[in-house]
Amino acid sequence: MGLNIRGKSFLKLLDFSTEEIRYLLDLSKDFKSLKRTGTVHKYLEGKNIVLLFEKTSTRTRCAFEVAGNDLGLGVTYLEPGTSQMGKKESIADTARVLGRMYDGIEYRGFSQKTVDDLAKYSGVPVWNGLTDEFHPTQMLADLLTIEEHFGYLKGLNFVYSGDARNNVANSLMIACAKMGLNFIACSPSELFPQEELVEKAEEIAKITGSKIRLESDVEKATMGADVIYTDIWVSMGEPDEIWESRIKQLSGYRVDKKMMENASENAIFLHCLPSFHDRNTTIGEEIYQKFGLEEMEVADEVFESERSLVFDQAENRMHTIKAVIYATLK
Ligand code: CP
Ligand code: NVA
Repeated sequence: MGLNIRGKSFLKLLDFSTEEIRYLLDLSKDFKSLKRTGTVHKYLEGKNIVLLFEKTSTRTRCAFEVAGNDLGLGVTYLEPGTSQMGKKESIADTARVLGRMYDGIEYRGFSQKTVDDLAKYSGVPVWNGLTDEFHPTQMLADLLTIEEHFGYLKGLNFVYSGDARNNVANSLMIACAKMGLNFIACSPSELFPQEELVEKAEEIAKITGSKIRLESDVEKATMGADVIYTDIWVSMGEPDEIWESRIKQLSGYRVDKKMMENASENAIFLHCLPSFHDRNTTIGEEIYQKFGLEEMEVADEVFESERSLVFDQAENRMHTIKAVIYATLK
């Protein structure tokens, strides 16, 4: 626990070393046990943070709010479309204003440049709560969930099946490379991660001893997998018209019972959530009416199975986000 990342922004995992990620995971475990034992940990009383959302959220917003309250912070939530940012005030000006009032800023939105600029101009730590490119706080929760289950990370075979170019897949590939898990992107080749990012992941993997693989053949990709992970097929900010082509591209990549049976005997299923695993959502029902699909990226029986740790994962968002806030503000 000798590391110090005080004052540092959490914009993407590429900016953090293996040791720093390890430090954040260990700190998350400590915070989880404080929460479990009901031990008060208002270590940051007197400080304030702002949560700036340009896209909707359940987990990320709630995790930041609860973590902030537990740490004794004042928390302001700015919902999509309610601040002056972008329309009447530039990112640089907004950053300089918020930096005068708050000790830390969370941002969820579209471009990675916006979160980078908030960090550049605000003078306080900025945390990326999801952009079109990366979703780095999610990966801390994912790694913690995997480690809690297996007891270790290095050498595990991690398969991401689905849109392997989205923010979650990008961040997972880097997270696996940094922490020594073997990463396999299982998707049609046109949805493989961008070459430039794969090259960066491969460079890191050389050092940590992990392997990065891109594989379109589902059976080959998932054979012996320890972790199978998926995410929604169309991400926030993508046009609705894209559903039809994504369904065509990705229907063969749904995480179903057959895929789980091809994985290792102790394999777990993970999903960042929200998930379309049944028709109990407006979009799920619309897709059913239009395309006849009862479930999308994951079969309901896998989502609801014992192998599915998705709600542990969701809880871990809070403990890991708390660790990030604390480590960068303390
Ligand atoms: N996984 C995740 O980021 O969920 P929310 O969109 O609900 O924040
Ligand atoms: N890829 C998804 C993740 C949601 C947490 C999205 O960006 O909508």
